[in-house]
Amino acid sequence: MEYSAKVLEHFANPHNVGKIDDADGIGEVGNAKCGDIMKIYIKVQDDVITDVKFNTYGCASAIATSSIATDMIKGKPISEALKLTNKAVVEALDGLPAVKVHCSVLAEEAIKAAVKDYYDKNGIKYDEELFKPDNCHYTHEH
Ligand code: FES
Repeated sequence: MEYSAKVLEHFANPHNVGKIDDADGIGEVGNAKCGDIMKIYIKVQDDVITDVKFNTYGCASAIATSSIATDMIKGKPISEALKLTNKAVVEALDGLPAVKVHCSVLAEEAIKAAVKDYYDKNGIKYDEELFKPDNCHYTHEH
């Protein structure tokens, strides 16, 4: 199994690791296949994700994808963050070994879960469709 240089770089030195104590939204998701867990914290101001941190109890791919995915949504409007797909994350990492692609889904799902939590906590109305598994580009390749 070969990892790209980018994966190794993000695994060795992951960005945005940690916790936000006064987070506006927290998303926690687990991977049914391997039992790995990812938690993402977001701060939101005027619909923009001003800060994001993650904790992952997972494999190298899960850590690398969380690292780059959090980089990709930091400072971005929520609407853009919701459009982030695991495919885009994998591409940004110059690919993942096929058996590891399911790991990248965690980051996308955790971001969506954090946004949903933010909406719920603030009584913001949203289209439930946004958070349906079918709209999450979820690959059922577990
Ligand atoms: Fe569990 Fe990668 S093996 S997330």
